[in-house]
Amino acid sequence: MCGIVGYVGDQPAWPIVVEGLRRLEYRGYDSAGVAVLEPNGRLQLRKTVGKVHGLTADFSHPEPSGSAGVGHTRWATHGRPSETNAHPHTDCSGTIAVAHNGIVENYLELKTTLQQRGHTFTSETDTEVISHLVEEGVHDGLSLERAVLRMSELVNGPQAIVAVREGGDDSICALRLGHAGGVAVAHYDGQSIVSSDLPALLPLIGRSGQLPVAFLEDGEVAVISRAGVTFLNKNGRRVQKSLRPVSLEDVLVDRGGYRHFMLKEIMEQPQAVVSALRDRLDFAGGRVLLPDLEMSDAEIARLRRVVLIGCGTSLNAAQVGRHVIERLAGITTEAESASEYRYREPYLDKDTLVVSIGQSGETADTVAAMQQVRESPARLVTICNAAGSQATRLADATLLMRAGIEVGVASSKTFTASLTILNLLAMRLATARGRIDAGPGMAGPGMAGRGMLDELARLPGKIASILSDAEHIESLARQFHHYRNFLYLGRGVNAPVAAEGALKLKEISYIHAEAYPAGEMKHGPIALIDREMPTLAIAPRDRLYDKMVSNIQEVKARDGMVLAVLTQGDTQPAAPVDGAIHIPDAPEHLTPLLAAIPLQLFAYHIALRRGCDVDQPRNLAKSVTVE
Ligand code: AGP
Repeated sequence: MCGIVGYVGDQPAWPIVVEGLRRLEYRGYDSAGVAVLEPNGRLQLRKTVGKVHGLTADFSHPEPSGSAGVGHTRWATHGRPSETNAHPHTDCSGTIAVAHNGIVENYLELKTTLQQRGHTFTSETDTEVISHLVEEGVHDGLSLERAVLRMSELVNGPQAIVAVREGGDDSICALRLGHAGGVAVAHYDGQSIVSSDLPALLPLIGRSGQLPVAFLEDGEVAVISRAGVTFLNKNGRRVQKSLRPVSLEDVLVDRGGYRHFMLKEIMEQPQAVVSALRDRLDFAGGRVLLPDLEMSDAEIARLRRVVLIGCGTSLNAAQVGRHVIERLAGITTEAESASEYRYREPYLDKDTLVVSIGQSGETADTVAAMQQVRESPARLVTICNAAGSQATRLADATLLMRAGIEVGVASSKTFTASLTILNLLAMRLATARGRIDAGPGMAGPGMAGRGMLDELARLPGKIASILSDAEHIESLARQFHHYRNFLYLGRGVNAPVAAEGALKLKEISYIHAEAYPAGEMKHGPIALIDREMPTLAIAPRDRLYDKMVSNIQEVKARDGMVLAVLTQGDTQPAAPVDGAIHIPDAPEHLTPLLAAIPLQLFAYHIALRRGCDVDQPRNLAKSVTVE
């Protein structure tokens, strides 16, 4: 949830750590801080409330000049955003500085014990107990890394920390405990860096264009220095870790001329679909290959159940996937929030395929649910955008989204990429189970594979045509932006798209938006309908079109305004609407990939009109690595 960075090398640490924090700001942005070990051997701390740029806005002191430092960008869990609660946190003597991502679940108990032993606390955070526990270790004569390891035995919950101390050898110590989100470590040419995510490693990529990176596992410690990096396991023994090459492309984040990352990412969706399809289709043979699923036809034929799990947007994608897999592949499919699933003690056997969905691969609830599945005989696959993330390391196989880095906190292109891959998965399962015929014709007993592939291939063009109508959607946003409540309705495969549209509006414009399967409306939400609560209805020309038209009529009969997503050509819908957005015609199971696009643009333009921070909405973070 928070972002941590540590740097030691032959360059001043301050600009590198601050720039790293700026690149990690999507993880949390309510306050930030840096501690630099100065040439005089003393730690200098700088903190700010709000975004990272506040750190560089203070011209009353010279910039720290030391070449070892740690930094943090915060998403508050314990204690409101304030300079006092901003990390890094120090011990009683102010000689140890710690930046932390995670929650110390037993911090109250530890704090009481430490206070009884004479420690003085200055913040309301859970993190501060870590600084004082490390202090005790150092006071007992342990090195920083041994003190960190001793502390790690006392704290409960997933944690990632970086720590630096006065009076040591300028090295920085990093620890990962449990599923605390990634901790990436790299060393190149006299410089070492540690960070919650790859973008902060940019300064080390240099001219080579590539950097070997290691990721800490549960209980591991990295000691980074100018000379290199050493890794210790939880018992304090040195371990060798395999390194993964990371390229400039993996770490570069750039708005590409757009006003916001979110708009850029919405506009990148045709390419996101192309990337998700690449190398996974055999057009001539009319088959989906999906080799990365790593399952034979015989293994697929044995499956009795598919379970899809995820959180937020990824959960909405899972709900769409449930419809598509059941419909195409004829397998019982469930979709559930990973935050519920992890506590459900679900029955899982070897005939079950569990698929986790996640942009980051680091969402704490999703990772914990995956770990539970890992202990069962079920096969575990992940659909993920972050290669090397915890989800990819836990799964038997990874279906990479390949959407490119998504910086906007509100997901857009990774939703589309997830849906694309869920369609490929459904088709792969359907083919292995004899429900889709390969080849160009309709001759066999199943659906025509070649025709279905052609429809997939048409998606990027169709999405592009919706994006080219962005001005119309912007004008609707202008018309609707002052409402304070919205109802989103959809049916069947588009009911979860209504949920995703409402989630986007809530997240970035702070407007209350409720989503319901349209058939549920008359069971309660209809009581809300009046002139002040517009309804956004997803009503493409599919099997359920007439039902959606009835729902629209019910809203209109109660003086409600209706904005409808309709199929192109449906210019005079059977029920009157106050605004229409048209999407190209497509097979029903693919309509979510089209209907989602105008809802993203609608939310974006409403948020802009309301002056909201689109890329970094309040209270949110890109990777939710705490429970
Ligand atoms: C989506 O706009 C949100 N940022 C959020 O709901 C997100 O989808 C959720 O936290 C899950 O993240 P993940 O896909 O990285 O697991």
